[in-house]
Amino acid sequence: MLYLVGLGLSYTSDITVRGLEVVKKCKRVYLEAYTSILMQADQKSLEDFYGREVILADRELVEGGSDQILAGAEQDDIAFLVVGDPYGATTHTDLVIRARELGIKIETIHNASVMNAVGACGLQLYQFGQTVSLVFFTDSWKPDSFYDKILENRKIGLHTLVLLDIKVKEQSIENMARGRLIYDPPRYMSIETAARQLLEIEESRNQQAYTPNTPCVGVSRLGSPQQKFKAATLKELTKYESGEPLHSLIVLGRQVHDLELEFLYDFVDDKEKFKKFVEEDQEYFKPPPYVPPPDDDDDM
Ligand SMILES: C[S@@+](CC[C@H](N)C(=O)[O-])C[C@H]1O[C@@H](n2cnc3c(N)ncnc32)[C@H](O)[C@@H]1O
Repeated sequence: MLYLVGLGLSYTSDITVRGLEVVKKCKRVYLEAYTSILMQADQKSLEDFYGREVILADRELVEGGSDQILAGAEQDDIAFLVVGDPYGATTHTDLVIRARELGIKIETIHNASVMNAVGACGLQLYQFGQTVSLVFFTDSWKPDSFYDKILENRKIGLHTLVLLDIKVKEQSIENMARGRLIYDPPRYMSIETAARQLLEIEESRNQQAYTPNTPCVGVSRLGSPQQKFKAATLKELTKYESGEPLHSLIVLGRQVHDLELEFLYDFVDDKEKFKKFVEEDQEYFKPPPYVPPPDDDDDM
């Protein structure tokens, strides 16, 4: 059996009781170590808590060596641990499909994910549209497909959850060119960088998917003791100091309910100013007022 086990968002003890029982009985336990981090834990503290060895699975192993992970899973139990929920944002579909092809049974043990815990900022999960990912721009590479999705969400009034890039075990171009297996330190995108990159793309696309005054929420370290939200305009967030990772950003949609706004006031610097920005932003993509068709009888 292949067990996909969600670890939750922060502590070693966020694993569920059933997840822990599985981890204890499995022959091998892999920890997916490149799409997220467990903020209050590391490999060592997990090993201590589970009382067994945990094998780090980097991108190379998961994407290129899935047969190695799945070896023997027809008769033995193998656990694949994923921070958050195994199907939250990162789905590891390839691994699941490969396991199915090999006739290996799969069981998932779910946990909290950024995709649902983000509701703690007060915005209603029902009012979110497509989630997007934002990668670190380079001088020559600024992928902007997220822009169209934010535009689509905002046209129908919905909020957008923007997940921010994580770079682990990356090689510099120089080290790669010289064939040196030296990796750069991990990098986690901050809210300031995300806000700057979003505005850079708005400047080039200029379709007003959002503006510098669009209200947003910076979400930091969800589920950890240092959890923090900051509600401000995109421009203001370019100057925010979001601190230690992990971070996400929410671009507000037009349908901000009064209760959502009330909740967000806890995370603003100036309540009246924020309210004004929300009201102004609601004018974007607002459907024109309904005008009834002319009554044919009037012509007679
Ligand atoms: C590719 S997703 C993986 C999601 C994970 N499997 C889950 O279910 O939560 C990783 C990104 O989600 C966001 N994220 C994950 N956990 C977070 C947290 N606790 N606080 C803020 N953002 C988080 C960050 O932008 C991070 O780069």
